[in-house]
Amino acid sequence: MLDNKGFDLWANGYDKSVNLSDEENTYPFAGYKEVLNKIYGIVHEKSNGTILDIGFGTGVLTQKLYNDGYIIYGIDFSEKMIEIARSKMPKAVLLQQDFSKGLPDIILDKKFDFIICTYAIHHLSNHEKLSFINLLKNLLTQNGKVLIGDIAFETRDEMLSCQYSFRDDWDDDEVYIVFDELRKSFEHRNIEFQKISFCAGIITVNN
Ligand SMILES: C[S@@+](CC[C@H](N)C(=O)[O-])C[C@H]1O[C@@H](n2cnc3c(N)ncnc32)[C@H](O)[C@@H]1O
Repeated sequence: MLDNKGFDLWANGYDKSVNLSDEENTYPFAGYKEVLNKIYGIVHEKSNGTILDIGFGTGVLTQKLYNDGYIIYGIDFSEKMIEIARSKMPKAVLLQQDFSKGLPDIILDKKFDFIICTYAIHHLSNHEKLSFINLLKNLLTQNGKVLIGDIAFETRDEMLSCQYSFRDDWDDDEVYIVFDELRKSFEHRNIEFQKISFCAGIITVNN
């Protein structure tokens, strides 16, 4: 699993490597742009609001929302990623924090219309994901949404088939969402899955 220093080293080449994997339609980033575009569209169903981005990285998605006038808060543990994102979004509140260790009080004291988390939650175990999603849900405004876009599968069979096809590149340290298993253990029933590619999907949790 990459730690914050690993992400520091990846930061400058991040956008290029992700786009290459997406364009070649390979694991792990096949569907990346579509995931981000779909989430962008969902956020735009509300013309303004406050957004929290968990693991914002280089700010590919949040920068667009920032430019559209949304108020942006974000959490990331990589200094280098924060530096890149801050140069694009000088007025956003971008905080350095390891989200596996919880969220800062400044975030816990607020409510968000949308909480987005793209390609970051697979760094948590399944158990940690459940508590984290429940924590995020409590930070939503009425009718707010948590939008998780990531390497994700509807069923374990789909994941195993992808794992077999990409066995030389498969990252055993990452824990991908298997939606029908997540849904069973999730205490709220208002959770949905939209498949985007053979290895990507969007999980929406409605308040
Ligand atoms: C693969 S990148 C995704 C970036 C961006 N959301 C995107 O869709 O392009 C994962 C990001 O999550 C951050 N990250 C990973 N684990 C984290 C953790 N435990 N706490 C805070 N940030 C984390 C990394 O620093 C990195 O910026």
